[in-house]
Amino acid sequence: MAHIGPPIIGVSDNIQRVRELVEHVAQTGLNTVIFGESGVGKEVVAQNLYQRSPRLGKPFIKINCAALPEGLLESELFGYERGAFTGADQKRRGKFQLAHGGVLFLDEIGDMSLALQAKLLHVLQSGEFAPLGAEKDIKTDTWVIAATNHDLKQDINEGKFREDLYYRLNIIKIYINPLRNRPDDIPPLIDYYINEFTCQLGHKNVTHPPDHAIYKLQKYHWPGNVRELQNVLKRMLVLGDADKIIDELLHGAVVKPEMRDNFNEHVPAAADSFESFLDYKDEGLIKNNSFSLKSVKKKAVDRVEKEVISYVLQRTDWNRSKASKILKVSYKTLLNKIAELGIEPPSNNSSNN
Ligand SMILES: Nc1ncnc2c1ncn2[C@@H]1O[C@H](COP(=O)(O)OP(=O)(O)OP(=O)(O)O)[C@@H](O)[C@H]1O
Ligand SMILES: [Mg+2]
Repeated sequence: MAHIGPPIIGVSDNIQRVRELVEHVAQTGLNTVIFGESGVGKEVVAQNLYQRSPRLGKPFIKINCAALPEGLLESELFGYERGAFTGADQKRRGKFQLAHGGVLFLDEIGDMSLALQAKLLHVLQSGEFAPLGAEKDIKTDTWVIAATNHDLKQDINEGKFREDLYYRLNIIKIYINPLRNRPDDIPPLIDYYINEFTCQLGHKNVTHPPDHAIYKLQKYHWPGNVRELQNVLKRMLVLGDADKIIDELLHGAVVKPEMRDNFNEHVPAAADSFESFLDYKDEGLIKNNSFSLKSVKKKAVDRVEKEVISYVLQRTDWNRSKASKILKVSYKTLLNKIAELGIEPPSNNSSNN
């Protein structure tokens, strides 16, 4: 059985929503993409999806699309027959075959080449794939969960990511905010990992950092997110001097004041989160005179409506007449909103009511 990851720790709105989504999505097996910076917990979320799904006990296979050159990634994913290419002296099963019945976690999907994206799309559409050199396709029943720290919409605009694959993969989106955006999660993460690491190190007594140290850690900008927090906690446990380690952390860090306000510009994964969609702090808007309270209000209302309508449609399996009753708007208004706000049905939706 796959190794089981930790629970998703955190109390922030973002993490609570992630946990809720995991709970719902795990039962559905719908293709999912997890967005977020490095070290933010994308793999933990994928593991939790798997653990709560009926596929628990079947394989959980992970592959990092950024770590392998194209040819190797292709043979890792799809496998090959003996003699398929020079050096293929034995038949080898690919990850799609190994993950059959379970989960295939495609990490760093944004780094996959366009040629391989086309092959992946074919598997997702047909449920079949051909190992290199094979004459017949093989069926696969695999739940594909992907993760990326890219803004895939931007990659599409730049011709680096296939739009059809994006819609096929991205039926469910899960955004994890950077840790600096959710300081409330720092105390529970510290509690959890101090206990974990104390056990691992064989220490008898659990020593939690003092409150003033936790407060300082909440002010730090955590470019390496939870992974960096884990490293800091390990250093504290081994070296024992929390204040010194935190001072070094804060002094070594180049935290430009503007970074605190504008970090979402560099964080495509968070760009869709509630915390960041009102980009009124963008100086450009003020200079260009394109900023007004009215425009901000419209944006905010649109964003909330889109969120709520998408949620109700998802919960009613895209039954629009049911959804319009729940939302207490006419059927026609709902259709107009769906078009105006660009709400897209999951690609396997066949409902037309
Ligand atoms: N919410 C969380 N609760 C518990 N542990 C977490 C949480 N978020 C992250 N972690 C831990 O932090 C570490 C980094 O998380 P993970 O590997 O899931 O990040 P990632 O987003 O996949 O990073 P990368 O993009 O670098 O692969 C892991 O040890 C993970 O267990
Ligand atoms: Mg990862």
